[in-house]
Amino acid sequence: MDRTAYFALAAALLPAIGCKAHPPSGIETRVVTSAKHHFLVGNKKEKNPLAATPDTIADGREAFSHYCMACHGMDGQNTGVPFADRMSPPVPSLASHDVQDYTDGQLKWVIDYGIWPSGMPGAKGTLSDDEIWSIVLYLRHLPPAGSLGEPEMYSH
Ligand code: HEC
Repeated sequence: MDRTAYFALAAALLPAIGCKAHPPSGIETRVVTSAKHHFLVGNKKEKNPLAATPDTIADGREAFSHYCMACHGMDGQNTGVPFADRMSPPVPSLASHDVQDYTDGQLKWVIDYGIWPSGMPGAKGTLSDDEIWSIVLYLRHLPPAGSLGEPEMYSH
């Protein structure tokens, strides 16, 4: 199975997973989020080896549009993703404070290993380290919500 197919398949399975679980209360979500940031998500100190330039950010946006768009939208803010708020936990806006508060190393870790038991898949072995670091740059330079339109795959 090629890499794009892998992520598209993961996206296709998501609504089924999301319907079975119960949404956590706001308080549980906050406690879990802060525990995740402090204890569970490793690699806090690793620095992004890529410099943020128009080229590296464009590379990240390109990789994101293949492997992450199905669940996160083109803009990383769920624009046009029909099941984003029906998952448990819901697909977060990657522009939110919770996500932006991660260090670059932690974002790399989240993308490498995914988040169990949610629908967020790990990309290690599927994407190269360079691709993942460029995606981290893109996450730091997300465009305004909605400015890139909706993923074509959901428009029909
Ligand atoms: C199959 C759907 C799906 C795909 C594909 C996907 N994600 Fe996610 N992502 C999720 C879900 C669901 C969450 C919420 C997980 C949670 O909070 O437990 C999430 C959360 C995240 C978070 C925030 C993690 C946190 O702890 O708050 C980041 C960063 C992220 N995704 C980046 C990416 C990147 C980059 C890609 C592409 C390489 C990607 N995702 C591909 C579904 C997906």
